Amino acid sequence: MDHVLKVEDLHAGFGKRGHAQMAIEGVSFQVKKGRVFGLVGESGCGKSTTCRSIIRLFGGAPFVIEQGQILFDGKDLAAMNEQQLTDIRGRKISMIFQDPMTALNPTMRVGDQVGEIVRRNQPALSSGQVREKVVVLLREVGITSPERRYSAWPHELSGGLRQRVLIAMALSCAPELLIADEPTTALDVTIQAQVLRLLHELRARVNMSVLLVTHDLGVVAQHCDDMAVMYAGKIVESGSVAEVFAKPRHPYTRALLNALPAHVDPQHKLQPIPGEPPAAGHFPDGCRFHPRCPFAVERCLREIPENETLTQNHACACHRKEDALW
Ligand SMILES: Nc1ncnc2c1ncn2[C@@H]1O[C@H](COP(=O)(O)OP(=O)(O)OP(=O)(O)O)[C@@H](O)[C@H]1O
Ligand SMILES: [Mg+2]
Repeated sequence: MDHVLKVEDLHAGFGKRGHAQMAIEGVSFQVKKGRVFGLVGESGCGKSTTCRSIIRLFGGAPFVIEQGQILFDGKDLAAMNEQQLTDIRGRKISMIFQDPMTALNPTMRVGDQVGEIVRRNQPALSSGQVREKVVVLLREVGITSPERRYSAWPHELSGGLRQRVLIAMALSCAPELLIADEPTTALDVTIQAQVLRLLHELRARVNMSVLLVTHDLGVVAQHCDDMAVMYAGKIVESGSVAEVFAKPRHPYTRALLNALPAHVDPQHKLQPIPGEPPAAGHFPDGCRFHPRCPFAVERCLREIPENETLTQNHACACHRKEDALW
């Protein structure tokens, strides 16, 4: 088995079973061992819902998985009860949430917060050993003077340092899979690059797999091995980063690339994608991208395109994927 996570035909949404408003429908992808998988798409397309479904953490929102499997190490997380999932969360799968500023407890020193998680996973350690391990973790994520920073309050740290503390917490159990949901959105550009580089390095050092969410294809190009593009609750294109960037087949992927400064010929202007993505509950019939797609034909308005394999490392759900559109 070369993958650590295999999500198959996942349908999930908010509300009561049978009446939920579906946020993701028919999502399938695999995260390979030791690799970084990038999930990309505009705001509201279902990236966080996909990530949170894996460990079923929704902060009390009424969430249901209506259909599908989430195979982790061959076991279906979607079929597990809360107790079984608790054993996996924070031990084998860690998640860094989208809002780093609110993820730390403001009334607790940062070292103690990391220590709490270390103690939960290794209850036999003495207080001194926990402290030592925390200092090692803080140093590992690039925090200088970790002995001193141990006693800092969250508000005394910059955004970048706080994000590093969260990464230290996520890594404290040496997870097999790290889910990082837009870990750098709230940070400025240079700090973003540092944090992403850190994740990249750590992945190789501790041999974990990473599911990295971003709305930025530039981040995918630099930091991911494999990728999937989401639109309106579905994956529209996926594959190795090399193949998708070399030969994007979905007009939406293409449009995202055209909105990327480094990818655009200086002679041409950046092309923002006209229109807005639809919200859950307001998805159009047929291909969900058709109202914004310059290549839509009659069939796209009626028929939902199937996700079809193009090569071993590339798949796309578009009626016009074989047409020479560009
Ligand atoms: N707690 C919730 N209750 C009801 N609907 C929700 C909830 N959280 C998300 N949604 C809806 O599910 C859809 C997908 O949202 P999601 O947060 O997964 O998108 P996203 O791709 O992570 O967006 P962003 O880039 O803004 O983080 C949206 O239409 C959103 O309104
Ligand atoms: Mg999100």
